[in-house]
Amino acid sequence: MELLWKDHMRVQVIRLVCAVLLVTLLSSEVAESRKVKTVGTSFKYEAINCRTHSASLTDFGGVGDGKTSNTKAFQSAISHLSQYASKGGAQLYVPAGKWLTGSFSLISHFTLYLNKDAVLLASQDISEWPAIEPLPSYGRGRDAPAGRYTSLIFGTNLTDVIVTGGNGTIDGQGAFWWQKFHKKKLKYTRPYLIELMFSDQIQISNLTLLNSPSWNLHPVYSSNIIIKGLTIIAPVPSPNTDGINPDSCTNTRIEDCYIVSGDDCVAVKSGWDEYGIKFGWPTKQLVIRRLTCISPQSAAIALGSEMSGGIQDVRAEDITAIHTESGVRIKTAVGRGGYVKDIYVKRMTMHTMKWVFWMTGNYGSHADSHYDPKALPEINGINYRDVVADNVTMAARLEGISNDPFTGICIANVTIGMAAKAKKQPWTCTDIEGITSGVTPKPCNSLPDQGPEKIKACDFPQGNLPIDMLELKKCAYIMKHA
Ligand SMILES: *[C@@H]1O[C@H](CO)[C@@H](O)[C@H](O)[C@H]1NC(C)=O
Ligand SMILES: *[C@@H]1O[C@H](CO)[C@@H](O)[C@H](O)[C@H]1NC(C)=O
Ligand SMILES: *[C@@H]1O[C@H](CO)[C@@H](O)[C@H](O)[C@H]1NC(C)=O
Ligand SMILES: *[C@@H]1O[C@H](CO)[C@@H](O)[C@H](O)[C@H]1NC(C)=O
Ligand SMILES: *[C@@H]1O[C@H](CO)[C@@H](O)[C@H](O)[C@H]1NC(C)=O
Repeated sequence: MELLWKDHMRVQVIRLVCAVLLVTLLSSEVAESRKVKTVGTSFKYEAINCRTHSASLTDFGGVGDGKTSNTKAFQSAISHLSQYASKGGAQLYVPAGKWLTGSFSLISHFTLYLNKDAVLLASQDISEWPAIEPLPSYGRGRDAPAGRYTSLIFGTNLTDVIVTGGNGTIDGQGAFWWQKFHKKKLKYTRPYLIELMFSDQIQISNLTLLNSPSWNLHPVYSSNIIIKGLTIIAPVPSPNTDGINPDSCTNTRIEDCYIVSGDDCVAVKSGWDEYGIKFGWPTKQLVIRRLTCISPQSAAIALGSEMSGGIQDVRAEDITAIHTESGVRIKTAVGRGGYVKDIYVKRMTMHTMKWVFWMTGNYGSHADSHYDPKALPEINGINYRDVVADNVTMAARLEGISNDPFTGICIANVTIGMAAKAKKQPWTCTDIEGITSGVTPKPCNSLPDQGPEKIKACDFPQGNLPIDMLELKKCAYIMKHA
């Protein structure tokens, strides 16, 4: 009895001591985390890969006053961090502030992270924009034949590269470039905000892109790309400020983007005329979902006009277009060659449109006069379903190429409300072939109605694309002194 009682007391005492210890430990941990919070910034995000090494731009002499150039700070930070590429990768943190910079280049296994109050301001000193060769699939620069100013954030031949942030901003200060473009004073083609070439495993997410000199985001000759949570804004009259241009890319996912721009919100491309045909690198396996677009002079999604390497298997869903010229549009021309095929669109909502459907084989716009007039594009298998639009001027303008009709057009379950000042004839169709089912107003004769049971004819194919299987990892960081 005695012994047992003693044992019981001993156990109680041990329990008490343990509890006191635990409470002390816990409260010191709370104090510790409070302490860290006051000297550092912690943040979490989702990414294709997390990094083991982190540094801040301020560790490399960065000054966020909006006046000092940070081009050298970016370059030396990235060059220093390149030693970690094979050791778990590195992250460069850009704190709150206005960081003026010219063009700089990324490396593999690297993340650039912009704080929510960080603004990268593109330099207006032309010497901070080195020139590079035109794209091989284009043969020349689009603004000027000789070369191209390197994009603000550039990368080539990389693996595993991320640009993200808590919705931090990249401001191209484009007015400087738009003026030079209009006055024809550009020596080379305007830079883009972000361009990644010949790269694999790319993520661009949670950023605001403003006032790009030209296109905003240009992944080219690349694969396995995630673009998510971008807000892209440029004035509607600004020249060629396309939102996102996947160009000769395989396996791309574009999600949750809001774009207001002076040109197409998303423009899918694959090279230009004889240069694109020769390079022969298509864009395929592309998913676009939950896109909201305002583009009064262009399309929500354009396929082309540079499509000479081919565009195949594009799946767009839950697209909203407001005050936009057209929905998912095909632009091509004699001399382009290539193809646009297996295109699927479902659930589009549109308000105030010039055309809901627009396809043209007469876009012109050639790289030079050496294009092959026998190089005809193949347009086949273009599917739209579940579309609702109101305040529309013309339901459709569909123009194929004579002796090269656009075939396999399938349009189902579409309700288009016409504007008070709509054109008398809602559909015009030339050199096209296909079917419709449940479409109002009544389509043109070359797209005969097949009855309500044919709605499924225009559906998405079964099964996901490989990029839809890719899941993001949860990354967490504490930046000290930032
Ligand atoms: C983007 O931000 C949202 C909201 O803060 C967050 O939930 C999401 O994880 C972020 N996405 C990525 C890809 O970083
Ligand atoms: C990048 O990759 C492409 C295609 O593989 C190759 O032609 C080019 O020479 C590479 N460039 C560099 C700088 O390594
Ligand atoms: C990101 O910032 C833009 C511009 O300030 C804002 O319009 C947008 O709503 C923000 N996005 C998120 C997810 O916070
Ligand atoms: C309809 O579209 C016209 C332009 O075509 C625009 O001026 C008008 O405000 C729109 N109406 C509505 C109700 O959105
Ligand atoms: C037709 O489209 C509307 C609007 O997207 C949708 O609510 C409806 O379910 C669709 N009908 C069929 C039969 O799929």
